[in-house]
Amino acid sequence: MRKMDGKVAIVTGAAMGNGQGIAKVLAQHGAKTILADISDQVFETAEQMKQDGLDVHAVQMDVTNNDSVKQAIATIVDKFGKIDALVNNAGVVRLANFLDMSDETRDFQFKVNIEGVWNVTKAVLPFMKEKKYGRIVNLSSVTGTMVADEGETAYATTKAALLGFTKSLAREAANDHITVNAILPGYILTPMAEQIAQESNPSNPQQVIDGISSGVPLGRLGKIEEVGELAAFLASDESSYITGTQIVIDGGSTLPETVSVGV
Ligand SMILES: NC(=O)c1ccc[n+]([C@@H]2O[C@H](COP(=O)([O-])OP(=O)(O)OC[C@H]3O[C@@H](n4cnc5c(N)ncnc54)[C@H](O)[C@@H]3O)[C@@H](O)[C@H]2O)c1
Repeated sequence: MRKMDGKVAIVTGAAMGNGQGIAKVLAQHGAKTILADISDQVFETAEQMKQDGLDVHAVQMDVTNNDSVKQAIATIVDKFGKIDALVNNAGVVRLANFLDMSDETRDFQFKVNIEGVWNVTKAVLPFMKEKKYGRIVNLSSVTGTMVADEGETAYATTKAALLGFTKSLAREAANDHITVNAILPGYILTPMAEQIAQESNPSNPQQVIDGISSGVPLGRLGKIEEVGELAAFLASDESSYITGTQIVIDGGSTLPETVSVGV
């Protein structure tokens, strides 16, 4: 018996990156897994997983479009009968120093990273309440909750907001045996991390990736499947007494108390 056998899970932002890794691992653990993404690349991602024998389905969904979210979730429940686990993974980042960041760029990040989580959770929660069972996993970050770099004010704000959301909703949902937890990744090798490297050093993004790796005690960026295993734990019955909390997955990057001076 695998830990997600018999469960139906939905992962937002699953066309690539962390969401792709999470969806793959959930399906490998036995979940019927729905990959939802704004990008039509989600169909190709799901197709590849199907070829590997996984029970996955793809749906194109913009988490900021409340009407399409409600419709997509209703269709999923119609088809599969329930949603046991929701992984709110879709997220965006745009770097700019505070005074240079336009309101539009700020709002874009607030909309996807906060409102998007809000919309999908609001659409899914009634169905979980009906079954008196649910697992909600939110992708926050070490950024904004523990650490921050220049240019991240808007993104950091959104990721810290998700912790407040996680804790408060966990309190409300507990009566219905629904748990709500957050994952706080450090640097994971995804298209988003590659985008940050590209924006920070357009002429040599690999230098940024190498620089990040050298600052991580485990000496590398994380893999999407490693985030997937943590998400699967929080989405399964193995985490039945864990709610309203956060788990860091960062290879120890937030650990150093003293900056190494190479002696
Ligand atoms: N990569 C990291 O190092 C890292 C670190 C900490 C937290 N995170 C968090 O993990 C999550 C995934 O990050 P990633 O690195 O895989 O990003 P990514 O950019 O590689 O992938 C994000 C996915 O979300 C989708 N998406 C974007 N806007 C959407 C919308 N409106 N509706 C539906 N889907 C949408 C994209 O199409 C894409 O498939 C984010 O919430 C991010 O904040 C990532």
